[in-house]
Amino acid sequence: MKYISTALAAIGVLLTSSQISAKKFEGLAKTPPMGWNSWNTFEVNISEELIKETAEAMIANGMRDAGYIYINLDDGWMAPERDDEGNLMAHPERFPSGMKALADYLHSKGFKFGVYNCAGSKTCAGYPGSMGHEYQDALKYAEWGVDYLKYDWCNTGTRDAKEAMTTMSEALWAAKRPVVFSICEWGTSKVWEWGSSVGHLWRTTGDIIDCYDCVQEWSRGWKVILDGQMDLVSGHEGLGVFAGPDGWNDPDMMEVGNPGMTMADNRSLFAMWCVLAAPLIAGNDVRTMSDDVCRILTNKEAIAINQDALGKQGFRFYKDSKREVWMRSLSDGAWAVAVLNAADESREVSFRWHHAERHLVDEYKIRDVYAMKDLGNTKDMPTVSRVLDSHDVMFFRLTPLN
Ligand code: GLA
Repeated sequence: MKYISTALAAIGVLLTSSQISAKKFEGLAKTPPMGWNSWNTFEVNISEELIKETAEAMIANGMRDAGYIYINLDDGWMAPERDDEGNLMAHPERFPSGMKALADYLHSKGFKFGVYNCAGSKTCAGYPGSMGHEYQDALKYAEWGVDYLKYDWCNTGTRDAKEAMTTMSEALWAAKRPVVFSICEWGTSKVWEWGSSVGHLWRTTGDIIDCYDCVQEWSRGWKVILDGQMDLVSGHEGLGVFAGPDGWNDPDMMEVGNPGMTMADNRSLFAMWCVLAAPLIAGNDVRTMSDDVCRILTNKEAIAINQDALGKQGFRFYKDSKREVWMRSLSDGAWAVAVLNAADESREVSFRWHHAERHLVDEYKIRDVYAMKDLGNTKDMPTVSRVLDSHDVMFFRLTPLN
């Protein structure tokens, strides 16, 4: 009897500890989340009309069917104050029909619905933060039908990032509605070391801006953010060692299609985000984007690389001042290879496959991802060479010949 009760007690302990560690909804982000977020283009100037028009556009232009299913409101969706009971409310002028109505609308169109809040007393734009209201807010999100929460880090004082993020994650868990939890503490506490036990993705850096390598206060061009994915830690895989199914490094929402980006920037950013297994969250005005931009964002072969089931983040294989080669190992022995012209002028860029023989141990069929064309194989074409615009890319999928 004593043995039985000891055994039962031990099982109880096991159950309790597994429940305690299971505060994250597993399986919601087996591949990097895909969607759209309002911040990069609209900042706080958002409204229910804008969100509905965005959803309609994403249906008409093929984005939804290409996999962009999360529509995420960033900062600015809330009323400036909580109600008398401390509940968050939708901003009365921007979202007069309320959050539940918007969630229902998006769900009826085949999308999932995301919102934003902050671990501090206020959000970065000064709206009510979740500090001290985590469980109450999580219940509201569940009531409204929220599927994704981006959780930011302004006005947090001396809070510990892991503790604060864990509290919100536990609150979502307690509210029982599965929510993708997007941690946004900008890499200030080496979030990659603990992010996957708490959330599904985590920002690794400060804010992105629509240029190659410009620097503006807190924001950086896409190439600076890209470099951070390798240079924030030592080791030839960079931050990639921390990522995998259900837990992704997030180099920030995309700037593809935004005014400061050239078409070369657009192609290169998208190729690199695919190689990085980064969340593909578009940040442009999808209602007015050009067909060329839409073709990049909806390129099925690039998206297949991003969404590859192996879930292995790519890395920078080679870098000099004019050329970079980024590679990603894919399912079934395939590889993605992106060769960037890092120079400030157009020039001929080439790459000899043999140079990467440490990784490319086979011979491969070469597929040009953007041209969607087979180019031959690595035996017959040992070098790829092309004149590339400044900051443009060649993007290949290599499939083993045998
Ligand atoms: C921070 C985040 C951005 C955005 C703004 C909103 O800067 O890093 O992505 O959410 O706040 O205020």
